[in-house]
Amino acid sequence: MGPIAGLEPVERASQDELRALQLERLQWSVGHAYRNVAAYRAKCERAGVHPEELKAVADLARFPFTAKDDLRAGYPFGMFAVPREQVLRIHASSGTTGKPTVVGYTRRDVETWAGLVARSIRAAGGRRGDVVHVAYGYGLFTGGLGAHYGAEQLGCTVVPVSGGQTQKQVQLICDLRPDIIMVTPSYMLVIAEEFVREGLDPAASSLRTGIFGAEPWTQAMREEIETRMGLDALDIYGLSEVMGPGVASECIETKDGPVIWEDHFYPEIIDAVTGEVLPEGSPGELVLTTLTKEALPLIRYRTRDLTALLPPTARPMRRIARITGRSDDMLIIRGVNVFPSQIEELLLRVPGLAPHYQLEVTRPAHLDQLAVRVECLPEVAGDSSLRSTLERDLQGNIKSTIGISTAVSVGEPGSIERSAGKARRVIDRRKDP
Ligand code: DLL
Repeated sequence: MGPIAGLEPVERASQDELRALQLERLQWSVGHAYRNVAAYRAKCERAGVHPEELKAVADLARFPFTAKDDLRAGYPFGMFAVPREQVLRIHASSGTTGKPTVVGYTRRDVETWAGLVARSIRAAGGRRGDVVHVAYGYGLFTGGLGAHYGAEQLGCTVVPVSGGQTQKQVQLICDLRPDIIMVTPSYMLVIAEEFVREGLDPAASSLRTGIFGAEPWTQAMREEIETRMGLDALDIYGLSEVMGPGVASECIETKDGPVIWEDHFYPEIIDAVTGEVLPEGSPGELVLTTLTKEALPLIRYRTRDLTALLPPTARPMRRIARITGRSDDMLIIRGVNVFPSQIEELLLRVPGLAPHYQLEVTRPAHLDQLAVRVECLPEVAGDSSLRSTLERDLQGNIKSTIGISTAVSVGEPGSIERSAGKARRVIDRRKDP
């Protein structure tokens, strides 16, 4: 394949150029956090390190981590490195318990973010003049506004629909004929169902590309969505603390995992227990250092996302493997570690089952029980003996692949709750009174 048109110079940089840029920016970013964020400076002093010791990229490993608890402790603005008056925008991540995590952006941060989302859309095959339907939620969540500013920056026509109102989503897709949709993979499936309910073929829509993220999804889910929707499904990754969508994003020419935009974020993979930095390719927890953020520089931020760093392919920057899940989402069922994504991968391989599911964990008599609730496809609805066969098949596959016994129940189409944003895959009732 020849050179790709419209790439930024840094997307063609050599490894040496990229490392030199990273070192220079790393020195700036660590110094900025040290000088302007009292809590991070205190951490460095306790660890006995000073930004002047950062002589090579590898020296970063000597610096202390930052975690979500640090942001909570400084709630709301304690980790900001600029006076609040210079903060142009606030976002927040919901968090299941307690207070949200508040993040802030200077004017330049908002411009950088828009530039990186524009780069992500372009990597997915998007071009100036494309119509982009944004169905990520607008508001404190970074998905909607992040996608919006990026698409505008690229010169696209943006349709800011936000999440929800599924019939309206279908109507707008039919009438405005977007080229690209940006939405969570689970809500894409809900929109696809609404097409079918209205007697329309979702694969015949104008959409040619979907840029999906904000929640874990599997390769099997990618295939499912591509077939149902008749589009190319690309993976976009990000988190509010580090920026929002567009920290990493997949290239259409390879579709082999999101490329980390390493000119703005320095990635490491660590052992989640010992904190030790692992070699490239090893699975572990992703740790990110922001290289250019002004309002909220984060040094060695522990994302809790489990993945691996992969060598560069379509761009000179490294990629992340598909996220297995967050360490917080890992279920330990009678001593066996299980991620919802493993169950997703298996259930999508059983013909007759639909890609909607929920896991429920209970603990009767001090023993963990995992119930897997899934739906059958409309074609096989009403056939209870077939449903029992599907239940036995999935139960058997989970037992032989993951090694745990589960109670599988296959319900009628529509029996699993739908979400307009991130799907709730796990209900853990072990802590219920
Ligand atoms: O979900 C930002 C975002 C919006 C990313 C839209 C992509 C598209 P948070 O709400 O802070 O921010 O949640 C971040 O979501 O730590 C991951 O656990 C998960 N996540 C995000 N993208 C992916 C992905 C946004 N592509 C958390 N694959 C992250 C798997 C993802 N998990």
